[in-house]
Amino acid sequence: MTTFRAPKGTFDLLPPDSAAFLAVREAMARTVRLAGYQYAETPVFEDTALFKRGVGESTDIVNKEMYTFTSQGGDSLTLRPEGTASVLRAALQANLHKAGQLPVKLYYSGSYFRYEKPQKGRYRHFSQVGAEALGSEDPQVDAELIILAVDAFRGLGLTNVKLLLNSLGDATCRPVYRAALQEFLRGLDLDEATRARIEINPLRVLDDKRPEVRAQLAGAPMIGDYLCEDCKAFHAEVRELLTDAGVAFEDDPNLVRGLDYYTRTTFEFVHDGLGSQSAVGGGGRYDGLSELLGGPALPSVGWALGVDRTVLAMEAEGVLEKETSRVEVFAVPLGEQARRLLFGVVRDLRRLGVSADIVFGTRGVKGAMKAADRSGARYALVAGERDLADNLVQLKDLASGEQIPVALDQIIPTIKEKLS
Ligand code: HAM
Repeated sequence: MTTFRAPKGTFDLLPPDSAAFLAVREAMARTVRLAGYQYAETPVFEDTALFKRGVGESTDIVNKEMYTFTSQGGDSLTLRPEGTASVLRAALQANLHKAGQLPVKLYYSGSYFRYEKPQKGRYRHFSQVGAEALGSEDPQVDAELIILAVDAFRGLGLTNVKLLLNSLGDATCRPVYRAALQEFLRGLDLDEATRARIEINPLRVLDDKRPEVRAQLAGAPMIGDYLCEDCKAFHAEVRELLTDAGVAFEDDPNLVRGLDYYTRTTFEFVHDGLGSQSAVGGGGRYDGLSELLGGPALPSVGWALGVDRTVLAMEAEGVLEKETSRVEVFAVPLGEQARRLLFGVVRDLRRLGVSADIVFGTRGVKGAMKAADRSGARYALVAGERDLADNLVQLKDLASGEQIPVALDQIIPTIKEKLS
């Protein structure tokens, strides 16, 4: 026991549950690596201004949720609330977009921080795997990314993830829509804070979950009716590519997302097994973000999947496998001579790629066999003085209880063969 606790809104990942998180992250990463996305890692903190400018001054993330602090040197730094601004910053800084073929395809996996009200599926420290394709205006890239996310969820055994799709238009048509929406919203009966939001970020009002607001939004102008010809054609192409791929989606004209950088394609993956936090992932196109960060025009698209919520969704669907086995082989030496011998055997097994562990210290047979059982190993290697005198060890199948003597020089080949 300790008097300390993990900070509010955070949790520790410990065995046996930690293995599932690792497996989920790895499965997501493997899926995008198959499409040529390469690993990127950026600092967990950045210049505060990067997120203010990138994510947007009017967003909840920037206004209420950032962990911002002043460093000893007097700089304002912020723990990253999301990955896109950082990854784009890093790629621009390293001139990756000039180094080769576009798009630059990057993926990342790590910790993100938002000062949110903690609840199931909503944490202050959470984990995302994200993918970004920088520098292409081809709708095939949007479709590729969405399909990869769908494949990742399917690969994890999830069958109830729903894809919501929208287009937010571009620099040509969005301002026209924004003005029309503002005009509509100004005529509604809304509280002070919401009225202020109409002037700063009217699209966010569409996302308001309160019934009294929702009821008034029924006749609001819809972005779909305002898309310019280019945006319409672009969106139609993305939809067609998804349909060809057998990816089901639902058009959601109210999907605006909580970050300001989006243009054209926006999407969210939702799951109903998470309580009120339904988004297991989300993303979209952000064609203007590079310029906002002082870079060249670099139309881009990406997503981030929430690892914690994906694990919750898997739990809800009953497809989360708990790790029951720590190692394949567990050595139980009885006596000093056996301890030395099996220490070497375990070392050699590991060098050959067989996971193995051994009882440390001197324990009685009963305690040692219990440790072997607890490890979840398939085989125990048991050796006492008498076995060694006969140049033998006992190989015990821990599931069936069957035990066979194995000659010392045959231990490793026998185990390798049994495990293959
Ligand atoms: P986001 O929708 O803010 O997008 O977050 C992506 C996912 O991270 C969410 O769908 C959710 O699963 C998970 N997530 C977010 N906040 C929390 C939290 N407090 N607790 C647990 N899980 C959370 C972005 O972050 C964008 N950067 C995605 C993107 C990439 N857009 C373009 N490229």
